[in-house]
Amino acid sequence: MFFKRPDYFPKQLFQRFLVQQVLFLIPVLLLAAVLVRVYLERQLEQATSQAEVVRAFDLGLLIMALLLPALIAAVSLWTGYQLVLPLGRILVRARALAKRDYSQGGAAESSGEWQEADDGEWSDLESAISRISEDMKSKEVNLSRGREEMEAIISAIQEAVVAIDISGNLLFFNSQFVLSFGDVGRRQGRLSDFFRSPDVLEAFRQTLLEGRPRSLSTQLRRKGESGYRYFSLSVAPLHLEKQNESYGAVGVFHDVSELKHLDQVRIDFVANVSHELRTPLTSIKGYSETLKSELAGNSTALRFAEAIERNADRLISLVQDLLNLSTLESGNDLTKAIVDLPLLSERVSQQLDESRKAKVHSWNFTYRANRMEADEKRLEQVLFNLLENAIKYVPNHGQVAVTWDTVNGGIELRVRDNGPGIPPEHHARIFERFYRLDSARTRELGGTGLGLAIVKHIVQRHGGTIRLEGGPGQGSTFVCLFPQ
Ligand SMILES: Nc1ncnc2c1ncn2[C@@H]1O[C@H](COP(=O)(O)OP(=O)(O)OP(=O)(O)O)[C@@H](O)[C@H]1O
Ligand SMILES: [Mg+2]
Repeated sequence: MFFKRPDYFPKQLFQRFLVQQVLFLIPVLLLAAVLVRVYLERQLEQATSQAEVVRAFDLGLLIMALLLPALIAAVSLWTGYQLVLPLGRILVRARALAKRDYSQGGAAESSGEWQEADDGEWSDLESAISRISEDMKSKEVNLSRGREEMEAIISAIQEAVVAIDISGNLLFFNSQFVLSFGDVGRRQGRLSDFFRSPDVLEAFRQTLLEGRPRSLSTQLRRKGESGYRYFSLSVAPLHLEKQNESYGAVGVFHDVSELKHLDQVRIDFVANVSHELRTPLTSIKGYSETLKSELAGNSTALRFAEAIERNADRLISLVQDLLNLSTLESGNDLTKAIVDLPLLSERVSQQLDESRKAKVHSWNFTYRANRMEADEKRLEQVLFNLLENAIKYVPNHGQVAVTWDTVNGGIELRVRDNGPGIPPEHHARIFERFYRLDSARTRELGGTGLGLAIVKHIVQRHGGTIRLEGGPGQGSTFVCLFPQ
């Protein structure tokens, strides 16, 4: 059919359109018929021949042909006007909406006026647009309030914060970042405009690439300062909710120079004190030895001299351990070389020969790896401290086993004993300095609680990790992993 209704078009509206058109045609046709009839009647009254009747009829037709289109044109002009007016208004509102201009009025103020102009679907359409406009307006207000709150929070953070997109362009940064690194007034740019440090750029690049957080310590120069400051930088990927791919990364620069400085003061203090203590202690030890030989006959005085010597020995070893830790902490470079592991183990074994022979029944070394790159002196100290502990804490007829192995491309050292084992609740703290399980008993054994702290430091300086396995009844196994 010519007037086919498209599926999406409201049925009611379409029917109304058809009815209106038909209703509008009826009076037009009726009017035309009446006019023709009046005219014909008048002509026939005066007509004398058939030809006159025909002429009169033709004239009637002519008048109708002229009148009807004029009428139809007038009416369709009127209906068109009725149609175009609301459409125009809707168009204006839709355009304003697209431009996010919400000043074109909400549903409430417009619908009354609209109702007067047309009472049906047009007003529905307009109020729908008004509702959308209201909705969008309130969402936009919420969104910008959220953004302002977020910016206020980020600006209040003492750390410098910066976020970049996947291609390294800045997405946002806080005022602290501008104060520390940025040119004043610069609102756009790339991360590489602000940093020359390859560490920083690489951390961001890797985070974008792998989508995993990273952190690093680095030295950076703050704007307007000549010296470098220490920063701890944490970089995390930016994800949209429910999306795996990161669209950027955010970095937080935490200035740790003050902490570093305090730490250095502490390290220096311990080193200085230890150093100052060493000389008088050596002299106490020397005099107590002399005293011992002088007091050979007097058993009580001899006992005192021996106690002085024993305690001087303990203090000397404590001071030595503290100095060792200070040197490790002050970050002096390791002297790395290829170390022959069986040779090193043999040397340590010999140093401990005396103490172990009294207690240890089985003393085993296994080499599934024979060499590794390390600071030989330090590595020797690791093995020495671990074996010294094993000997110290195993019961009589103890068993100690050392294994050197290649694991995941690194070298793994395992020192295992069948001693009392260390309860799991102490595992996390056992590598802290001065931490001892049973301080009374271990002090009796001559322990100060620095041995494992030194071991951990050395392993970490080699980029490795240390962990403790086992527990009461299972013995202890210390596992050091050195990446190669
Ligand atoms: N193999 C082990 N078996 C059982 N307990 C252990 C073992 N090794 C260490 N420990 C416990 O861990 C504590 C800390 O050990 P660490 O070597 O740090 O100190 P220490 O041996 O007491 O003193 P030192 O500084 O002379 O080594 C020890 O006091 C001991 O209680
Ligand atoms: Mg020890």
